[in-house]
Amino acid sequence: MSEKKIIIKYISTDFNLLSNSDRKLILKAKNVLKSAYAPYSGFLVGASVLLDNGKIVTGNNQENVAFPSGLCAERIAIFYAKSKFPNTKINSIAISAISKNFQIEDVISPCGSCRQVISEYEVKQNENIRILLHQSDDSVIIIKSISDLLPLMFISENLKNY
Ligand code: THU
Repeated sequence: MSEKKIIIKYISTDFNLLSNSDRKLILKAKNVLKSAYAPYSGFLVGASVLLDNGKIVTGNNQENVAFPSGLCAERIAIFYAKSKFPNTKINSIAISAISKNFQIEDVISPCGSCRQVISEYEVKQNENIRILLHQSDDSVIIIKSISDLLPLMFISENLKNY
């Protein structure tokens, strides 16, 4: 038996230091969260997806009185992007959140189901999907690949019988 360690990497930076393209993507996420439908949690999340064709697709969380029927902003944006542009790769996804009830201090990072969905497309396209997490103090965390957020992830290779 041996104990192993997994090290994950991320970049910590500031909104003002980002490229124009990254700033634009974050601003789109920040803007679209305003129209989230989140009457139960008061937690508004926006996600914007930059595709390889230069198009940006946005989404926000949609809640439901039957709680599990709602969906996160990230999956709404990604599923919409992939349904509209099935053969176009995803370059980056930016995520921003605010709460109507409190000041968010921590970084808001995709939930486990959204990580799994991002991993599906990253593996399929064989190119990393950058994840940009925007914090309320305008600091930004950049994760270069979903494998850093979902170590030991379940991938389609695991379904194959060699
Ligand atoms: N939510 C997202 O949309 N994305 C996240 O990364 C975390 C959580 C939504 C789901 C629900 O509508 C609300 O935030 C509270 O969990």
